[in-house]
Amino acid sequence: MPAFRAPRGTRDILPAEGPAWARLAAIAADLARRYGYAPIETPLFELTAIFERGLGEGTDVVEKELFRLETRGDEVSALRPENTAGIVRAYLEHGMQTWHQPVRLSTIGSMFRYDRPQAGRYRQFHQWDAEAIGDPGPAIDAELVELNARFYAEVGLTEVRARLNSIGDPACRPGYVAELTAFYRRREALIPEGDRRRVATNPLRLLDSKEEALVALNADAPRIVERLCATCAEHFAAVRVHLDALGIAYELEPRLVRGLDYYTRTAWEFYRAGAEGQQQALGGGGRYDGLAELLGGRPTPGIGFAIGLERVILALEAQESPHARPPSPGPAAVVVGADPDDTATRLRIATELRAAGLSVRADLGRRRLGRQLEGAAREGAHFAVIVGDELAAGNVLVRDLEAGTQRTVPLGGLARHIARGEAQHRHGVAAEE
Ligand code: HAM
Repeated sequence: MPAFRAPRGTRDILPAEGPAWARLAAIAADLARRYGYAPIETPLFELTAIFERGLGEGTDVVEKELFRLETRGDEVSALRPENTAGIVRAYLEHGMQTWHQPVRLSTIGSMFRYDRPQAGRYRQFHQWDAEAIGDPGPAIDAELVELNARFYAEVGLTEVRARLNSIGDPACRPGYVAELTAFYRRREALIPEGDRRRVATNPLRLLDSKEEALVALNADAPRIVERLCATCAEHFAAVRVHLDALGIAYELEPRLVRGLDYYTRTAWEFYRAGAEGQQQALGGGGRYDGLAELLGGRPTPGIGFAIGLERVILALEAQESPHARPPSPGPAAVVVGADPDDTATRLRIATELRAAGLSVRADLGRRRLGRQLEGAAREGAHFAVIVGDELAAGNVLVRDLEAGTQRTVPLGGLARHIARGEAQHRHGVAAEE
């Protein structure tokens, strides 16, 4: 047993997983480019007040799961449990209200929640996040739901389902919450003891509980979609018209309330069919028209989503998709040599080839040529560049490790030769697929 392990709820992403992660990041970056969501990076920690005010002090994420940092007394900070509050803080701080609205932003990064670790739930995890700030909708709402859905489609996840709700605004939600509180009060005896305190503090959270007793109770609970004020109802209807126009399928889920207090109106989550528990959401988002004000700015509508990338990889694995573990590409060439001790020449030639843009490794061990060639084949290299007696005349041997053929190539034309061979190889592989 090693003396130390990664902290509970965290995981190392090892080289074999690298290509799968790089692929998700590349797809996210490409979608962000196509949809016009500009990159932003905010700090991994923020003033704790941003999360307390923005996400809500009574939420699980702030009350139980915040990684509060022990600072030396000046700025009370916490690791970010999500990125929306930090992005809206940046929007206000950098005067983005004066930019062309909405400001569309996108980021990928680590989030931290001190939660009980279990499958698909980590203390450090990664999200792809997209936000559009400064547009009240409804069309932009549909743009974001569709972008969220498109990510799953492009990574190769099938059988993904969207659940949609509207959770009202400050005009209609308080009345609904009062009604819901009264509903739970009348049935307090049926509510598990640990949850009773929520009747007063955050009755909305009881709505999407997975506890059996509450699930039974909730079947009769008043539904917010039936209590929306006229403007919220109109907004929701228009979001649905736009989603229908895009051909996005979704289920209406009146109990979907999301776990953060900043949400208003449109809210959604995505699940893999058959894995629809709240803990298994592949991503979700919603509108947060009051968040900028909570953070001290003037009223500014906003909407966005975040996708849990660990959960996407787990879902690809569950689906036995080849994209869960794409192979690591081998180098185009490995430079090997007849003189095991001449590492300097092998390193120099590899360096020149890399400078020409090729992926090349030099065998820097002092093994016999035969062993070096075996190593090159094991790495999945297409070519071995063999440094031998030919070097005196400015040549090397290039062996095509797949075809088993070999030819003498002048050093001056080596990069071109390998680049051409690689291109043909890739083309050939692509044609076979
Ligand atoms: P969220 O629903 O809290 O929303 O998280 C979004 C996604 O992050 C979840 O659906 C899930 O896939 C993933 N996730 C959350 N917690 C964990 C965890 N402990 N381990 C692994 N994955 C996890 C937000 O974070 C909002 N900021 C989304 C948003 C953006 N709303 C508006 N804009």
